[in-house]
Amino acid sequence: MHTETTQWAAVDSYFEEALHLNDPVLDHALARSREAGLPPHEVAPNQGRLLQIFAQMARARRILEIGTLGGYSTIWLARALPPGGRLLSLERDPACARVARRNLETAGLGACTEIIEGDARDSLRRLVAEGAPPFDLIFLDADKADNPHYLAAVLALARDGTVIVGDNIIRGGRIADPAAAGQPDVRGARDFLEALGRDLRLTATAIQTVGSKGWDGFSLAVVSR
Ligand code: SAH
Ligand code: DHB
Ligand code: MG
Repeated sequence: MHTETTQWAAVDSYFEEALHLNDPVLDHALARSREAGLPPHEVAPNQGRLLQIFAQMARARRILEIGTLGGYSTIWLARALPPGGRLLSLERDPACARVARRNLETAGLGACTEIIEGDARDSLRRLVAEGAPPFDLIFLDADKADNPHYLAAVLALARDGTVIVGDNIIRGGRIADPAAAGQPDVRGARDFLEALGRDLRLTATAIQTVGSKGWDGFSLAVVSR
């Protein structure tokens, strides 16, 4: 196991070098997040680039992110926006929101992004109540236990063709371990995946990944209505 995780991380490092996945703005954002004591829960650079590519493939003009942390994934996603595009990111922790705003400002992305502070459940309810226009791409990356709730909520903010990406659905394999079935994040991830599978409006899949973040993965769904 130890050898494997070391090799996975080494391959990720090689990708970062070969594909030029890091740059000073991203490095600086990570450094600031560490200085502020935020946990290292950001997507890996190759995953950030994958998010950017998804957003570009979807020609996303409006992006919704749930779970900002220090804004690292936010930078990747916002870089895919065309002129006039907009990204909203929902974050409960004021300290995270503060770091993220600063990181986005430094990245030159302050004007096209907005961090909405507060519990994402409340922010989502408010967005729906306000009649927010639909989002083209939605990235679910907050507390995993609440993913089933987030899925139901964001479907009210989606249109035909909206792409929904869910992070961290594998939990080091605990997702399929009967002994872990009672753990809240596993319960949330399983209920979320099963809701994706059940919903006739969604075409969904899930992918396992290994790398610097260990054994994890993401779900991908497209809405048709
Ligand atoms: N997307 C980030 C990582 C997010 S980590 C990146 O890849 O760079 C998960 C974040 O979700 C944390 O910052 C946490 O504070 C936030 N979060 C957890 N529960 C939340 C909730 N109920 N509402 C809003 N944010 C929440
Ligand atoms: C962890 C990783 C994540 O990508 C995330 O969004 C939340 C937590 C983790 O490693 O625990
Ligand atoms: Mg995540």
